Amino acid sequence: MLFNRIRLVAVATVFIGTMLGMPAMADGAAADAAHGGKLAYTCFGCHGIPNYRNSYPAYHVPKIGGQHEAYLASALSEYRAGARPHPTMKTQASSMSEQDAKDIAAYFATSTPVTSAGKSVGTPPAAAATCVACHGPDGVGITGDYPTLAGQHADYIEQALKAYRKGTRQNAIMNGMAAALTDADIHAVAQYFAQQSPSLWVPKAPR
Ligand code: HEC
Ligand code: HEC
Repeated sequence: MLFNRIRLVAVATVFIGTMLGMPAMADGAAADAAHGGKLAYTCFGCHGIPNYRNSYPAYHVPKIGGQHEAYLASALSEYRAGARPHPTMKTQASSMSEQDAKDIAAYFATSTPVTSAGKSVGTPPAAAATCVACHGPDGVGITGDYPTLAGQHADYIEQALKAYRKGTRQNAIMNGMAAALTDADIHAVAQYFAQQSPSLWVPKAPR
């Protein structure tokens, strides 16, 4: 009797998991965050240091704690494929398999993922009107494919938007979006999203 109950719960859990999508199941093994954590030690040298900067050009290393899992995995594939030009990140991403990238993404997306309160801090600048459809009024990406911008470093957001506008960072949606922005727009939207809360955070290296 009890045994049957346990089995039923187990079957129901798998069923619900399947219903919820879990796209990782379809094209490979599920993401293993614990394994990702073991691979992530090299990342903390830059991503684990608050206010650490990239040099030439100088801007803050992006916060990846609490970022959406699907977006993190896709960012790593883009560095590997060259759709994003950063040399160090290309080397980092090229050293891992597709599965490793998924596991690492799951690791940084765990702990306290940013949850949307649906309220924004301050008044959105006019240029942000179209952005909120995907990145959310409070900067929390509305699905896993849309990166969370809330609390991200403003100079990193600016750098990203200028790279999309120039075409050195390739993404069909964002190349189009950024083409319409002036430098003043870019500055205003970066300031706006950087001040949103709850925020992305700087992950701490485990001891
Ligand atoms: C030497 C410093 C350095 C190391 C080490 C490093 N990164 Fe990065 N990372 C950066 C910089 C700088 C950027 C921003 C690059 C750009 O402008 O595209 C970045 C960008 C990223 C992004 C994109 C974030 C976003 O919001 O789009 C992800 C994801 C990422 N790194 C993950 C990792 C992982 C995982 C590791 C470890 C395997 C790692 N990084 C190691 C410096 C580093
Ligand atoms: C239709 C949906 C959509 C809209 C509207 C949109 N974005 Fe995006 N945005 C995306 C997607 C998808 C990505 C990830 C692209 C990639 O992989 O490089 C992205 C990436 C970004 C990034 C890079 C984040 C990072 O961590 O590197 C920034 C910054 C950004 N968008 C800002 C904006 C701004 C500002 C606007 C409004 C002017 C805007 N977006 C409008 C979908 C959208």
